[in-house]
Parts: sequence; C-alpha cells; structure tokens
Amino acid sequence: MSKKAYLFFLFIALVLTSCKEKQPTYTIGLSQCSNDEWRQKMNTEMRHEALLYPGVDLIIRTVEDDTKQQIKDIDYFIDQKVDLLIVSPNEAAPMTSVLEKAYKSGIPVVLVDRKILSNKYTAFIAADNFIIGKEVGIYVANLLKGKGKVVEISGLEGSTSASERHEGFYSVIHQYPQIDLVYQADAAWLKKEAGVKMAEALLKNKEINLVFAQNDRMALGAFEVAKKAGRADDIYFLGIDALPGKNGGIEQVLENKLKATFIYPTGGDKIIQLVMSVLRGKSFKKNNTLYTAVVDQTNARVFKLQSDEIIEQENKIGFLNERVDAFTSKYTLQQYLLMSVSAIVILLIGLFFFLFHAYRSKNRLNIQLEQKNNSIQEQKNILEKQRDQMIVLSKELEEATHTKLVFFTNISHEFRTPLTLIAGPVSKLLDEEQLKPEHHRLLSLVQKNVAILLKLVNQIIDFRKFENGKLELHWSHLDLKQQIQEWNESFHEMTGNKLINFRFQVLSGNDFSFNFDLEKMERIYFNLLSNAFKFTPEKGKITITLDLVQEVNQTFVELSVVNTGQGLTQQDIQNIFERFYQVDSRMAGSGIGLALVKALVELHGGTIKVNSENGNTAFIVRIPFNQQSIPTSVFETEIDQAKMKRPILFNLDEADESQSTTFFEEMGDNELPTILVVDDNPDIRYYIRTILQDKYTVIEAKDGEEGIQKAIKLVPDLVVSDVMMPKVDGVNLCQRLKEELSTSHIPIILLTACSLDEQRIAGFESGADDYISKPFNSNILEVRIRKLIENRQNLKKKFGEHFFTLVDKGGLNGPDKSFLDKFRQIVEKDISNPDLNIEDLGKAIGLSRVQLYRKIKAMSDYAPNELVKIIRLKKAYHLFSTTERTVSEVAYDTGFTSPSYFTKCYRSFFKESPSDLLKRIRK
Ligand code: FRU
Repeated sequence: MSKKAYLFFLFIALVLTSCKEKQPTYTIGLSQCSNDEWRQKMNTEMRHEALLYPGVDLIIRTVEDDTKQQIKDIDYFIDQKVDLLIVSPNEAAPMTSVLEKAYKSGIPVVLVDRKILSNKYTAFIAADNFIIGKEVGIYVANLLKGKGKVVEISGLEGSTSASERHEGFYSVIHQYPQIDLVYQADAAWLKKEAGVKMAEALLKNKEINLVFAQNDRMALGAFEVAKKAGRADDIYFLGIDALPGKNGGIEQVLENKLKATFIYPTGGDKIIQLVMSVLRGKSFKKNNTLYTAVVDQTNARVFKLQSDEIIEQENKIGFLNERVDAFTSKYTLQQYLLMSVSAIVILLIGLFFFLFHAYRSKNRLNIQLEQKNNSIQEQKNILEKQRDQMIVLSKELEEATHTKLVFFTNISHEFRTPLTLIAGPVSKLLDEEQLKPEHHRLLSLVQKNVAILLKLVNQIIDFRKFENGKLELHWSHLDLKQQIQEWNESFHEMTGNKLINFRFQVLSGNDFSFNFDLEKMERIYFNLLSNAFKFTPEKGKITITLDLVQEVNQTFVELSVVNTGQGLTQQDIQNIFERFYQVDSRMAGSGIGLALVKALVELHGGTIKVNSENGNTAFIVRIPFNQQSIPTSVFETEIDQAKMKRPILFNLDEADESQSTTFFEEMGDNELPTILVVDDNPDIRYYIRTILQDKYTVIEAKDGEEGIQKAIKLVPDLVVSDVMMPKVDGVNLCQRLKEELSTSHIPIILLTACSLDEQRIAGFESGADDYISKPFNSNILEVRIRKLIENRQNLKKKFGEHFFTLVDKGGLNGPDKSFLDKFRQIVEKDISNPDLNIEDLGKAIGLSRVQLYRKIKAMSDYAPNELVKIIRLKKAYHLFSTTERTVSEVAYDTGFTSPSYFTKCYRSFFKESPSDLLKRIRK
C-alpha cells in the first residue's frame, strides 16, 4: 500500500472510532422475587434514578415467587461479572448460600425489602417490618378498644418480611387479653390465596371483628370473600403497602373497603443512591431504614392527592424518559448516519483524488507514450530510409566490387605475361658467369620479387576461379608426409635469421599416401607456413604436426601449424578466412592467402579452423584420408618434379639480415653524410643502400623502434623511413625524432606504398620534411636526399657566419631554438671557467658527447668547443662595450687561460684585435 493510501485509511479509522458511543461504566444486576404492582413501581423508580447516573446499565431479572429460578438468575449475574447485585430474595434460607457466593466473589450485594440468614452482604434497605407489625398492633388495640376477635393472614412463610411483621403485630396484641387471635394462616402474599383463607376463617368463626392481612392485595382478597358472605360490614380490614393508584391501598381506604393501610415504601430512588455510593467508594450505611405511616380515613385523601401528583410526575418523567430514549436512539441513529455519511464522503473524496491522480497519470503516460511512439516512428522512418539507402548503396557497392574484381582479375591476367617475360630473361642473365657479384645480387633481388608478384597474381586468379566455381582439382596419390619433408627444406633456411625453433612431428600413422591435388596442397602448406613465419617473433617456435584422426566412420589427415607469438583476437579468429582481411595492417600482405587456403581445403572436402590461446596460434586442416571413389582418369600420375622443387617463396622477413648494419656499428670515418634507412623489408633497404652508398654512409634499421634507437644514438644527417612497419610506424618515428633533443634537427623523408592525401597530411603533421610514394624512382630519391642535405648545409653556413644573430632573430624555432638557448645559458653561467668541457655541457643538457657533437655540428657547422669559444668571444665583446675592463681582465673573465691566446682568437673571429676595438669605442 502506498504511504498516501495508508494515511487516508488511518484517518477514516480515527474518525469512525471517535464517533463510537462510550461503554457503560457500571453494570448492575437486579433480581426481583415477584412481579406485582409494588415491585413494578420499585423498578420504575430505579430506572428513573439510574438515568441521573450516566454510564449505569441496569439489568432486571424477575421470577414469579419462584426461589429456584431466582437462584439461577443470581448465578447468571455472577457469570456475567456484574459490578453490583441488587436482590430481593423470595425466601431467606434457600437463597443465603448463592448470595454469600456472589459476595465472596467480590460482587457487592445490596439486599432490598427482604433479608437472608447471613450477614455476608454489602448493604440492606427497606422499611422496618417488625415496627410496621407493631404499628398495626397498636392501631388494632385502639380501634377495638382492647377487646375483639382478630384474624391474621400472613405473607410467604420463608420470607423475612412476613415473619417480622407477624412478630411486631403479635408483640402488641398479646398484651391485650381480650383481643383474641382467632385465626392465623399463610396466603403467600397472594390475593386469591387470601380469599380462600378468609372463607375458612368465616366458617370457623361466627364472630370476627378485624382482619389483618400483611399486604393490601391479600386484604382486598379477604374483603371481597367476606362481602360475598354478607359479613363485610361487621369486620375491619387492615393491610400494608399503601400503594397509590387504581386498586392501590389508598384507594381501597377511600372506598371504605379497608379501614386502614400502612405505608411500605418501594424506595427505588433510595436504593440506586445507596448502590452508587457503594460503587463509587463513597461512605454508606450497611442497614438503611425507610419510613412508614398509617393511611386511614383521616389522611387518605391527602395521600391520594399527593400520590396522584407523584404518579403524574412519574408519568411525565416516564414520558420524558421515553422522549429522551427516542431522542437518544434518534441521536445515535443520526450519529451513525453522520459517521456513515462522513465515511462515505471521505471515501468519495479519496476515490475522487485517486481517480483524479490515476486520470492525470494516465494522461501523462499517454502523452509520454505518444511522444515515444512518435520518436519510435521517426526512428523507424529514419531507419527505413537508411535501410533503403543501404540497399541502394550495397547494390552499387556490389556492382562496383564486381566490376573492380573483374578488372582486378583481368589486370592480374595481364600481369602474368610481362612478369613471365621479366622472370625468363632475368634468370637467363643470372646464369651469366661474368656477372659482377653486385649485379648478381641485384638480379637475384629482381628474380625473387618477380616470383612474389607471380605468386600473388596466381593466388588472385585462383581465388577468383574458386569464387566462380571454376577451380578444379588435379588428383594425385602421394604421401603427404614425404611432400612436407621436402617442402620443409625451403623453410629451414629462414629459421636461422629469426632464431626460430622449427619442428615437424608425425603424431600417429606412418603412411600418409592418399588422394590430393599436389600443387594446391603445396599452396595450402606454404601459405600457412609463410604466415606462421611472418608472425613468429625472434626466438619463437613453429610446430608442424601430421596425424590421422577418426571422426564418424571417416579417417582424416590432420595437419596443424602452430606458432608462438602475440596470438589472435576474437575478431581476427572470426574474420581471418575472409578475403582481404588483415590481422595487422602494419604488416605487408594482400589478405588473400588464408581465404585461398580455406577455399583449397574445402575443395578437397576438408575443413580448416584456427585456435589462439596463450600466445599460441594453431591452424588445423583436416582432409578426408580415404578417397577411393575418385576416378583414376582425373589423376595426374606424372608430377612435374621440376615444378615441385621450385616452390615460390613469399615476401618474408627471412631476407638476408647480414646486409643490415648492426646497432653498434660505428659511423664511417669518412666525411660523407650519414643516412639512416628504416624499412622492415630487407630488399628495400638493400635497394636504397645500392642507390646511396657511393655518396653517403648508409646505416639501416629493420623497424621503427630500431630506427629511433639508432637515430638517437648515431644522430645521422638524414633519415629515410617506410611508413607501414611493425612495432613503431614511420609517422610515429618521425614524431618521436622531431621531439627528441638530439635528433630534432634531422631531416626525415617518409616512404609509403599509399599515395593517399590523408597519409601525406599525417606524415607532414608529424614533422616529416619530405614524402615519397612507392614505387619510387631511384633518381628522385637521390635528388631529394641531396637537396635536403644541401639546404641544411647552406643554412649551417649562414648560421656559421651570424649564428647567434640568426638564432636571436628567430631563424630557428621549436626544440632547436630552445636547445641552443639552453646551451648558451649553460655556457654563460660558467663562462669564466676555462675547464668547461663538452662532456659536462652534454650532461647538463641531457645528451652524450657524441650526440652533442653531432647535433651542434649539424646545426651550426661548428664543433661544440668552437661554439663555446664563440660564446666566450661574444661575451668579451659585450664586456668591452659595456665596462671599463682591460683586455686581460676580460680574457680571464670569459674563461681564456691567457690574454695572448684570447687576443688571437678574438682577432680571428671578429677580424679586429681587442685593442683596436677598444681604441675605436673608447675614444
Ligand atoms: C410484594 C409484596 C408486598 C409486600 C412485600 C413484602 O411482592 O408482597 O406486597 O409488602 O412484598 O416483602
């Protein structure tokens, strides 16, 4: 549930509980023994009085003079755990124990009208029955003037009110010897029973002067029987209770039926007052006596008036009570209605807010959805447009590719004839015995590279044939193991240069004779091996294994070529057999070799896969071993062995590295400028060397990394570098050398196979001084190199004459200017020190002696020592111009050990002796 909803329901619960009526504070149980007018009057009085005490709940249970049933009622009240019990016990003895039990259980017990045979009760309230009996006795004695025959009709024998009334009555009349109690009987407080007893008394007694019935009800019963017997006029009838109203004792007195009656008050109001004192813990009396009085002809009218008045008031109270009850129930009903309406209103408000919120959220969502839909629709439209464009583009591309491929294939075919025509004459020329060794080497280079070109061209043509489904196999039945051993001979030479550990192992089986296309198998093998050699680093390992493997009822020859190295990425593995895909774009290659290998393997019904893990790359080829079904007609039984013996070599790094100068080679002693040639292709390096070696000292580096090391170490006069190289490419090399203090002045020419403008821009941005596209003309290269070196020399010459003037005027910039500034600062700081040597200067500037020498020489045509001397002399000139110092003082101040040597040097540099200068400027 949300927090809002939770708070809302909490609020409703609070409203509802606050409206609920309070529980009554006290529950009072009232047990009545009879159901007559006297008790009904008592109950009414109690109810009315209880209304004055809010929170009092009065529960009344009444029996019809039935003691057993009354005991049950008392038990019921005990079980209900009422707060207080009011009891008028029918009979004293049988009810004593149940009332003691109630009292002991902690329920206060208030007895009214009648008593029990125990004092285990809380309070008692009634008029004193013994006194009433006595009052009756006195009234009788007076009325009869101490002489007459008397009948007593008493109440229920076991009730204390009956016995006490008799005792009080008798205690008086027995004092009058002439008053004779002729008849005495128990009529159980009932009218009819009293009539029966009266009839018996009349029968038994011819003369009766007075009948005393213990209540008015029984007195009336006796009167009516005597009346019927015609003897009523001779007898006085007396009763007790004096109830007002119809059939009440007061009316019977007024009607002369009764001579007199005695008030036995019901006292309901007094009972409730006593009970509330008990419940509220106020002080109260245990025994409470109500008043009594006689009612006869002398006062009956007054009592009647009073009691009528009381009855009227009672009726009004009753009416008001009913009205109050009606209003209360109306009020309660209204309260419930109000509560319900409030709850409904609150619920409706809640519902309204909920719906409003839901509606708003829905609207918001709808808007968002619509926006999303719109943007999705827009995206969809864009995507559809893009897709359509892509379809058009890809169609165009497909067509263009197809056209290009056709053109490419045609060109490849065209290349074959001239290449063959070059290869033939070259090999003929090579047979010439009088050939100079250098020419022989150059021709071999031509032969090798023509072979490479032919191989590439053939591969392209074959691959196109395969793509067009026109590549056919020419089956031979040969032993692949023997073939591999023969082929390996061509590779053994290559292993030495890179110190590669090359191994061939047969894992199982001995005879590997089966059907395959020899030439195509050779291509597969050479391609895989060339690849392995290309990517295996120095001191790496190449392992070839041959094995027979069983797979689902078929035997396969498994050839694997594993090499150590950098390994392949997941992307490489996925694409390696795609045509034109290149693992390392810095490596030379067409990207067709592995695509062709896969094509050739599949043509044999085999498979090829590649794995690369922990720096080991494995190409695994499987070719079906048993190929019995191939018809013999397609077999090529005669193999052109000559062809087999001349496997066409690939352009590998295997070329003769002995031609490359070593890292530690010393610069030639001669005065020829030094050129550093950086290229990963040894043939190119060799070719450039042959172009330059007459006029320059040529040093070589086989990749960018070695190039940088050699340039820093040897500080050449110019660097010629290829762009695409492993490790560090030409653009990076150029950047690094231009940043390096010792090499920043060296002109750099970049060579590349790409003539695209972007590559040129990248080259120039890296600080390259020139850019020559491959294939290049040897004369162009030579001229460009010469021009760059001459330019430098001209600049040097100019610099030599006015070196520092030019430096100061901004003739130099970038690292070269800051280098010279630094150099000058270091010298000037220690200018008076005659022992300032080049080693110290180099250290202070961060260069070796050789680097410093070559750098300064290259920039200024001076040796560092000479430059130091110039700085000293310039300082001297400055001192002469600005101070009054003598020649010898200035000589020592500028670090010359003798004034005569200083004078000699000064004159030679400024073409004027210091003394002539002084004469001129200090006239
Ligand atoms: C009512 C009554 C009275 C009488 C009283 C005595 O039940 O019979 O008429 O005075 O009980 O307990």
